[in-house]
Order: sequence, then structure tokens, then C-alpha cells
Amino acid sequence: MSGRYQAMHERSLSDPTGFWADAARAIDWDTFPTTILDDSDKPFYRWYRGGRLNICHNALDRHVAGGRAEQAALIYDSPVTGVKQTLTYAQLLDKVARFAGVLRDLGVGKGDRVIIYMPMIPEAVVGMLACARIGAVHSVVFGGFAPHELATRINDATPKAILSASCGIEGTKVLAYKPMLDAAIDQASHKPDHCVIFQRPQAAASLIPGRDIDWDEAAATAEPADCVAVEATDPLYVLYTSGTTGQPKGVVRDTGGYAVALKWTMEHFYGVKPGEVFWAASDVGWVVGHSYIVYGPLLHGCTTLVYEGKPVGTPDAGAFWRVISEHRVAVQFTAPTAFRAIKREDPNGELLGQYDMSCLRALFLAGERSDPDTLNWAETHLKVPVIDHWWQTETGWPVAGNPLGIDLMKVKYGSTAVPLPGWDIRVLAPDGTEVKRGDIGAIVAKLPLPPGTLPTLWNARDRFFKSYLADFPGYYQTSDAGFIDEDGYIYVMARTDDIINVAGHRLSTGAMEEVLSGHPDVAECAVIGVADDLKGQLPLGFVVLKRGVDRPHADIIKEVVKKVRDEIGPVAAFKQALVVERLPKTRSGKILRGTMQKIADSETWKMPATIDDPAILGEIGEALKSAGYAKG
Ligand code: COA
Ligand code: AMP
Repeated sequence: MSGRYQAMHERSLSDPTGFWADAARAIDWDTFPTTILDDSDKPFYRWYRGGRLNICHNALDRHVAGGRAEQAALIYDSPVTGVKQTLTYAQLLDKVARFAGVLRDLGVGKGDRVIIYMPMIPEAVVGMLACARIGAVHSVVFGGFAPHELATRINDATPKAILSASCGIEGTKVLAYKPMLDAAIDQASHKPDHCVIFQRPQAAASLIPGRDIDWDEAAATAEPADCVAVEATDPLYVLYTSGTTGQPKGVVRDTGGYAVALKWTMEHFYGVKPGEVFWAASDVGWVVGHSYIVYGPLLHGCTTLVYEGKPVGTPDAGAFWRVISEHRVAVQFTAPTAFRAIKREDPNGELLGQYDMSCLRALFLAGERSDPDTLNWAETHLKVPVIDHWWQTETGWPVAGNPLGIDLMKVKYGSTAVPLPGWDIRVLAPDGTEVKRGDIGAIVAKLPLPPGTLPTLWNARDRFFKSYLADFPGYYQTSDAGFIDEDGYIYVMARTDDIINVAGHRLSTGAMEEVLSGHPDVAECAVIGVADDLKGQLPLGFVVLKRGVDRPHADIIKEVVKKVRDEIGPVAAFKQALVVERLPKTRSGKILRGTMQKIADSETWKMPATIDDPAILGEIGEALKSAGYAKG
């Protein structure tokens, strides 16, 4: 193991306040924190108490003043519209300051929430930074969620304003966002005072007088707003992520710790230098987008890339290579699923030959388990280090990975390498004792978590405690299971809850079950994640019909599929369901989803000792076979 890494990791655990006080000096503070780590309310910890700063200042104004005014801050590349646009730091600052003025004039101030429901266009980034500039709390909702999900978030975050656009573009489809926004506001009990709508040429949105405001018109006349300093512990954003029920968890991100941690990772983990182009091919609706499309690269003085396209089909499987070579990307970050999509279309990497990829130094993959085949394909064809790293919406930045910026260590396929500085990772048995090296258990992080991680859940401190801190006192429970090998390498194997990962998107099967059980013909149901060559996992539903229902099963299946799409959104990718007579359960009535998943994926499985009626698993196996699963 690298001595430099080891020394840094050890210091971060033995002297966390010294380590993170040093890291904090890379950020501009209005007031430097008086207490680096406030541990007066264990197990709730707060970083940088007494510090005051503005993160937008650190992302923009600071660089303009420091000589980067003419450097590209943001490159927008949109193969779906044919538009390419570069904004320098000075130009991005001007747009953000003006839009912050728009928000201020609408009465949005420090601590007010603003929901952002936007496609991958520069205005989404402008909206986020404008909120940060005036101390407002943004909450970005991914465009693939349906109005019902948006309404749930509107009710929880109670935003003063919502920012949106007339449409998003998915491949060749123009998706009107505004009708979805209107439907969500109709459904929500909370009503925002205003919506600011960015009109795109591909679809015009009709505006509701008095409530809706045209983005460009408002920005044209607004006076720029100055940065408002906030407490380091003030929330910068709330990002909702799938929990185990239909009610998503509002992950709160505080300002100071996040700024410090992201700036630190850009140099020490991703190994990028200010001035270089960093491209996270994700979406601003996910945590990767927040941390590494918006805040990380800009805090570090890099150029970030906003890509409105897909890895394949816009126009072909060479899309990523075109963007990398054209914009001289030094480091790319995406989800393994994107590379699986490319590999499927261009197995021999022939399209790569058309591009000068000499600028690319490394590829980082996260969001789901990297299968060795895909990792190997990327290494072979790109001829740069391909680094699998593991993190979560909750953590805000990587927990484990091969720290390119410190020292590139040995790559082991299937492992996300070593814990980053700040992370004391252990693997525990259900009774809370540490398991032996190599044995699988619950992966946990010893408290306190490092800066930038979630301090709580929005409006739900009890849920925060119960979800993450209660089961293993003194530790944060990641809800991932896995093991640590003899060299200290971490292997993340599976979630321990009902979260599945579809194309790198985190989804709750529990939330899908809530939708299915709302169908009038469904008596009970189960949703599991089955293995998929492209998306990693796909949801598969099982429904037991109410007695007496004699409609064609195909009709009912179509209806439940549509219901999930309507209520959760296309992102759920819920396309298959099977009608079965009964579900396998334990004697206490718990549905045996884990066993069903193993049968579906043809993995070895053991008959659960507590099963009520073993014959039902045979019936499930037959149903799965009829749908092309359970082949082995
Ligand atoms: N707005 C509206 N709809 C969206 C959307 C958005 N921002 N993003 C996805 N959708 C829709 C898709 O159009 C699709 O709809 P459909 O059922 O009508 O075809 C559905 O949601 C499912 O999307 P997805 O699972 O992403 O499938 P896909 O076939 O569109 O694309 C990949 C598959 C692998 C190419 C794509 O998921 C991908 O590039 N993923 C890697 C990058 C990434 O997103 N990472 C996230 C975490 S780092
Ligand atoms: P999200 O909150 O959407 O980032 O999803 C987090 C979950 O994705 C984690 O809890 C893991 O289950 C999974 N995940 C993320 N990165 C990896 C990785 N590199 N390897 C395995 N699983 C991962």
C-alpha cells in the first residue's frame, strides 16, 4: 500500500480536526471556523462551526478575481440540439449574479428553498449557483421523475420558487416539462409563489400570469446580486433520494464542509489541476451532478462540461470520444452502464480510432458495481487508469477509491480500492462485532463522518437517526454489504435494503410496490431487481390478483406498468410484471424477495429455514422461466 496514502489516511483518523483544518485553508472564508469539529451533540456532528462563507464566491468570483476570468468555466455540448456553447468564468459569474438578482427580486432569500426541475442545460447550473449566491437552498429534482414524485418533493421542501424549462430532450424525443410541472403543483398541497421558466426553442411553454416568469426576460433586466455569506453549517441544498418507502429522503448538505471536501477531492482523489477540463457525464439531478458537474470542478478552477446527450445514439457509440477529444477532457467520470452501452454497440472500440484521445488521463466509474468485463474493456481501449469508486448521495463524495491524486495503487477488479482519508470503514456482523477480513457483513463508517457528508435529513432528524445511526451505535450504516480483503481493499457487493440500481439510478422497489398495490385488481405484490446486461439491474414485479378478478392478465400488466411510469416516472424503467397465484413468505409473513431475486438470476440459493410453504418458490421459478429468467 502506498506510504503517502497510508500516512494521509492515518492522520485523517488520528487527527481529524488538524487534517480538515488544513484542508479548509484551500477555501475562501469570510470568517474562518472557530470549531473545526463540533462533537457536543453526539452522535450528531457538525463541521466548521463558526465559519462563514459563500460557496458561489468560491466557485466563481474568487476565480474571476484570481485571473481565470477568461478561462472556460462551463462548456455546454448538446448533440440533441446541435448547440455548443462556452461560458468563461466572467460570463458564468455575470449570468449567475443576474439570475440571483431575479430570485432576490422575487422575494427569495437566505434559507428559502427553490426547487429546480430542469434538463441538462447551462441554466440548470446557473439556477443552482444563483441560489447558493443568495443563501437559498436548492433542491434539484431529476427530469425523469413524474409529476407525483415532484409533488412529493414540493410538499416536503415547501419551495418559495421553482425553476424549470419548457422541455427536455431525450435522444430524439422532446419532453414537455412545463405540463409536468403544472400537474405537480396541482397535486401538491404547498404552492410556490413563482415559477421561472426557461423557454427552449424546441417547445414553448404557456405561462400562468402572475405565477410564471420568463427566465430570459427577467434575467435581462435584473440587477446582479452580491454573495451572501452563510454559516458553514447552513444548508446549501436538499437532494431527495430513494428511501425504503414512497417518501424519499431529503439528504441535507451543509455549505462549509461540502466546499472543503469537494475541493480536497478534486486534487487528492481525481488528481485534476485547476484549468483542466473535468467531465462528469451524469445529470444535475443526481448527487454526481451536484458534486462533480457543478461544485467540485468550479471550486477547483476547472472547466466543467454540461453534456446533453447519451453515450450511444447521439449520434453513435463514439459520442463520448468526440466530446473528450473536442473539448480536451483530462478526466472523465460516468457510470459503468454508460460503458456497457458503448461496448454493446462498438465491441471492438473501432470508433475510438477516429478521435485524438491523448488528452484523457483517467476514467472514474461509480454509481453501481463495476463489472470486471466492462472495466477491462475500458482499460484496454482507453489505455488510461480506469478507477472504480464507491459513494452515495448521503456521503456527497467518494468513500473509497484508488486515489489517483495521492498515488495510484494496484487495481483489483471487483474492488473499489481503499477508504479515502476521512473514512474509517469497518465490516460488521448483525450483532455489531467486526467480522474477519474477507468475510461479508454490513459496511459501516465509524463516526464522525468527514466534512461534506449528510448532517441530517430535511425535516426528519428521527428518520436520519433511525436510518443511519441506530442499528450500529457509533457508526454510519451505509446499507451496503461487502467485505475488506487482506490488503484493506473494499468490495461492495449488494444493498442490504430494497434499493436497486438501474442504469446507475437509485430506485426503491418498496416505492414501486406502493404503486402496484394501489391498482384496484392487485391483492399483494413484490418488486425485485433482476440482473440486466446493460442497466445492471431492472425492476421486475410480481402481482397476486384479488379473488374474482378475471380480466386478461396482459391488460392488468400493461396497467401496472403504466401506473409506475405515471407515478414514479420513466426513470423507474419498470417494464415487466408477472401475475402469480401467491408470494413466498416466511412464517411471520415477510416476503422472501432475496430468494426470488437469486432464483431469477440463476444464482445458488438455500431454502430459507423460516419459509412458510416451500412449494411457492417452485411456482415462482416457473413464472420466472416463462419470462426468460431463472435459466440455470
Ligand atoms: N428527463 C426525462 N426522462 C428521462 C431523463 C430525463 N433527464 N433521463 C432518462 N429519462 C427517461 C429515458 O428517456 C427513458 O425513457 P423511455 O422509457 O421512454 O425510453 C427512461 O427514463 C429510462 O432511462 P434510462 O434508464 O437512463 O435508459 P436509457 O435507455 O434512456 O439510457 C443509458 C440508458 C445506459 C444510455 C443511460 O442510462 C446512461 O447514459 N447512463 C449513464 C450515465 C448516468 O446517467 N449516470 C447517473 C449516475 S452517475
Ligand atoms: P446513489 O445514492 O444514487 O449514489 O447510490 C448509492 C448506491 O449505489 C450505493 O449505496 C451502492 O449500493 C451503489 N454504488 C455506488 N457506487 C458503487 C460502486 N462503485 N460499486 C458498487 N456499488 C456502488
